[in-house]
Amino acid sequence: MDFTVLTLFPEMICAAANHSIFKRGLDQGLLRLNCVDIRDFSTSKHRQVDDYPYGGGLGMVMMAQPIYDAHQHALSTYHAMHKPRTVYLTPAGKPLTQSMATDFSHEDSLVLLCGHYEGIDERVIEEIVTDEISIGDYILTGGELAALVLMDAVARLVPGVLGKEGSFADESFSANVLEYPKYTRPPQVLGRAVPDILLSGNHKAIENWRREQALQRTKSRRPDLLGNV
Ligand code: ADE
Repeated sequence: MDFTVLTLFPEMICAAANHSIFKRGLDQGLLRLNCVDIRDFSTSKHRQVDDYPYGGGLGMVMMAQPIYDAHQHALSTYHAMHKPRTVYLTPAGKPLTQSMATDFSHEDSLVLLCGHYEGIDERVIEEIVTDEISIGDYILTGGELAALVLMDAVARLVPGVLGKEGSFADESFSANVLEYPKYTRPPQVLGRAVPDILLSGNHKAIENWRREQALQRTKSRRPDLLGNV
């Protein structure tokens, strides 16, 4: 899976992607990451990438031209017939879900567009964007953290990336209920004991207990999810 990120802050993306499982995926050649600095495509002397909004209002709007040219440059690295989906991270997008992450993980490549300031000229969005995605109902200062969230959620679904420690065999269940509580050694810590059932060796009973705990948590914390179980 090939990620190309169009951003004003390429170091932010590279720094965060260069750790843990994502880095291992890069090292193993299962993932590729290409950061394109939108500012490099400014045609102005001062490398300007934003301007005042038509119609007035606060804040600046990112201009269409540098973004369009950065996108053209990104596409030029792919086969002419290959048109990767281009995802614009925006609080006005569709909320990201696990099933959307799964859908994205089936792509060979994704281009992610990070906005800043008060948004992006709508005309370049109409021209190049195939998907508008939000990572939640709150406003970030830019799309970079959202792009990293999306990349992380997608990359771990790419075959081979999770390796040994990862198995998402039960994720069709766990996507719709919250995780059950986990415990590790020692059996007593901070004056608290591991629930006896987990030491019983009775796998069927443990599975039932976990499922019950997951359902209880979901009922109290995220009842909205239970409609989908
Ligand atoms: N950019 C700013 N806020 C965002 C959000 N919540 N999701 C995606 N992109 C964003």
